[in-house]
Amino acid sequence: MENLPILEPYRIKVVEPVRQSTVEERRGLIAEAGYNPFLLRSEDVFIDLLTDSGTGAMSQRQWGAVMDGDEAYAGSRSFYRLKEAVEEVLGFPCVIPTHQGRAAEHVLFTSMLKAGDLVPNNMHFDTTKAHVQHRGAETVDLLCPEGYEAASAHPFKGNMDTAALDRLLTERGKRVPLVMVTVTCNSGGGQPVSLENLTEVRRICDRHSKPLFLDAARFAENAFFIQRRERPDLSVPEVVRQMMSLADGITMSAKKDALVNIGGMIALRDEALYRECSNWAILFEGFPTYGGLAGRDLDAMAQGLREVVDVGYLAHRLGQVAYLADRLREAGVPIVEPPGGHAVYLDARRFLPNVPQDQFPAWALSVELYIKGGIRTVEIGTVLSGRNPATGEHDYARLELLRLAVPRRTYTQSHLDWVAKSVIDVYRRRDEVRGVRFTYEPPVLRHFTARFEPLA
Ligand code: F0G
Repeated sequence: MENLPILEPYRIKVVEPVRQSTVEERRGLIAEAGYNPFLLRSEDVFIDLLTDSGTGAMSQRQWGAVMDGDEAYAGSRSFYRLKEAVEEVLGFPCVIPTHQGRAAEHVLFTSMLKAGDLVPNNMHFDTTKAHVQHRGAETVDLLCPEGYEAASAHPFKGNMDTAALDRLLTERGKRVPLVMVTVTCNSGGGQPVSLENLTEVRRICDRHSKPLFLDAARFAENAFFIQRRERPDLSVPEVVRQMMSLADGITMSAKKDALVNIGGMIALRDEALYRECSNWAILFEGFPTYGGLAGRDLDAMAQGLREVVDVGYLAHRLGQVAYLADRLREAGVPIVEPPGGHAVYLDARRFLPNVPQDQFPAWALSVELYIKGGIRTVEIGTVLSGRNPATGEHDYARLELLRLAVPRRTYTQSHLDWVAKSVIDVYRRRDEVRGVRFTYEPPVLRHFTARFEPLA
């Protein structure tokens, strides 16, 4: 993004050693792992960009809060401190902690969905989609057209197609118990949703008497984009409050923008729905004042929610992602534009035009990047898409992407320089990169445990 500072707004007090192996060692390690980065041991990874979920560094205040944790089964002080932070930062009076984001989805959807229902979203994240389907309901993605164009520089590519939402609610509204918007839109590349778009979605929901829920995993990153690109008259905490004021509730993976290693929550306004969700939370997660977490985890979340809306933190955070994107763009590396909040995505079909889609170009690139730089990334392409259950054919992805997700407060600028250099080195020798084929293909969620061999 536009001229963000990349000087780290923190200094380092605790260090976690990481090991640099050699290219030769890594060739052996990835072969042993069946050319699947998920099957590597993390100690054999130098820079881990697999995900930004639960992989960030907590602050000294969060670690201090951990010592304050109250481990009472019911009504702990930690719960009330979390409740206060949620009310202060997000403006919701009711909160149910859960052990992570998908657990919040499980509890909310058990309360609100039944077989035959339809759930519109700008774009469902995988676990959200799976939980909707688990209830026998159907998902509909209504992302705006620009969101599907890798090269479009639209500032809010996470926006919902509001005309399509209005049409859906007019034609099939009876089947829709709630509308969701994911901020930022992870499956669309970490792209933000504008305040104007959210306001319009709210208006449409009101017209059709539907509740609106946000999947708020990266709410603060979304708010920062709004502050920079749309509403410079507001502060980030004000943008957050406005975003949240448009929603009836949220599900949230706290492993992203609550700056913790584990945790999630549902936050709500409606007392009756809160009671209903609490009952399911007891069954799935634990008593509603701890929700599958330790008291100390709740305290770390409370503190994280206050820290994440700090504009200095966010400018550096988004600045790191933009910095990495700038280094790659300068060298001509094809990336998804503009870069999103938490990751840079390489466009593998343009990067490796010689590797056909059935030889999994983005996967091949992830193997190459590990060998070259000890960097672990994740394929968002055809291996992830799986097979079409009706035809048995690969469900070819619209875009073959490689996600370089940046953990929060974890790596320095010199780490990012190493990432950029490694990607650029692979790009310069891209003609030598070969595709891969399966040697073992699991029937479902194949990317996690599949094994491959490189093609000659
Ligand atoms: N919603 C969004 C938008 C997410 O990105 C995730 C997780 C979840 C829900 C589920 O939360 O993992 O705490 O159960 N995204 C991670 C990722 C896994 O790598 O993007 P969870």
